[in-house]
Amino acid sequence: MSGHEVGLDRGERATFRPAGPLRGSLTPPADKSISHRAAIIGAIAEGPTRVTNFLDSDDTRSTLSAVARLGAMVNPEPLNEMPGEFTIEGVGPTGPRNFDRIDVGNAGTLMRLLPGWLSGIEGGLWRMDGDASIRRRPVDRIANPLRLMGAEIEVTNDRFPPIRIDGHQLEGIEYELPVASAQVKSCILLAGLNADGPTTVIEPVATRDHTEVMLAAAGADIERRPGRVTIRPGATLELDEVDVPADISSAAFFLVAASIVPGSEVVIDRCGVNPTRTGIIDVLRRMGADIEVEPQSGAEGEPIARITVRSASLTGTRIEGDEIPLAIDELPIIALAACFAEGETVIADAEELKAKESDRIAVVVDALAGFGANIEAREDGMRIIGTGGLAGGEVDSEGDHRIAMLGAVAGIASQGGVTVDGMDAAAVSYPTFQLDLARLTD
Ligand code: S3P
Repeated sequence: MSGHEVGLDRGERATFRPAGPLRGSLTPPADKSISHRAAIIGAIAEGPTRVTNFLDSDDTRSTLSAVARLGAMVNPEPLNEMPGEFTIEGVGPTGPRNFDRIDVGNAGTLMRLLPGWLSGIEGGLWRMDGDASIRRRPVDRIANPLRLMGAEIEVTNDRFPPIRIDGHQLEGIEYELPVASAQVKSCILLAGLNADGPTTVIEPVATRDHTEVMLAAAGADIERRPGRVTIRPGATLELDEVDVPADISSAAFFLVAASIVPGSEVVIDRCGVNPTRTGIIDVLRRMGADIEVEPQSGAEGEPIARITVRSASLTGTRIEGDEIPLAIDELPIIALAACFAEGETVIADAEELKAKESDRIAVVVDALAGFGANIEAREDGMRIIGTGGLAGGEVDSEGDHRIAMLGAVAGIASQGGVTVDGMDAAAVSYPTFQLDLARLTD
């Protein structure tokens, strides 16, 4: 090891000392969004779906447990060992059983997608709840359109989990998303599978389209036009196979780490590069990053690529408007890159950051300011004046996986190192993060 402690301390508190360069190759863990969808749509489908490279993480375990409770058979039983490869025997669109409580843990995607399916199951009754962070994340955004479809959903204080769902026959609707959210879009599309007519979602700003891609692959009657997607009930859904690509949101930590630690060169293999997810590559390149993307042959509908990133001098940029949803989960680590860039970076139109696993405007600004950054919070984002480096310090992840990993990358790139309290939160999406970081900086 090169004098830093990554990989030695996988507990709550971990110190990341200045290290690097990062050199070598890695395949980050499987895509979290696509893994959730493979479990949920695999459960909705009729017959078996073979899932390979499923993400083994806390969030996706919650989803597999949930669909298993609803009656989907997962084989071999992965809930103890989680082999990453399994067959899921779906129950069909109207087949969920065990009217019961569902614990989503920390998984916001599960909390927002599953009610779409369940609210159309006549006679069904479910209560969904999760951890303390989930109870702070709004679900009125799904309850409102589902109620327009005829669903009976009770939420807490008009806005939050726990929620109670009484299943009913749903009606098709046309709905324009008031917030750019793939979770809300996906929830309505899943509800549309059990509606009595077509359901259309109008999307003023494009968001990740993994649900549309997977439903189309399953044979759903789904029609996509720019800015709108329509689903009609009645098609037989058969998914057959899903091979989950590596998660660009996890790769993002290494795209930034390799960009800002001098002398680095990292190759990221078989990474998902769906254009609704690659905002980080466009933003970093605009900042001057040295990133090459070579397409690889991959799974149907979900493009993958080998990405090579080398360290480079970065300059500030402006990130706003339509670009925000394409990089929404990467904005914290982009903010770190901005601290190492020269000049001003502004992130605007990103109020949605407040509704993530933590309030990612407040938490990111506090963390980076604590490391010595020149940064200020704004109502819809943040402003950073890059100084080419950071002193270091301490951060509490607040249970947010992306804040924990941001702290780790900041630590290795800083002058004095960073101690992260709550490093275990990384397991929500990237359980082997510290090992990968240690290997690449060794
Ligand atoms: C996700 C969509 C995004 C993203 C989240 C995963 C998904 O949330 O932040 O991590 O899998 O659909 P929103 O749809 O709420 O923006």
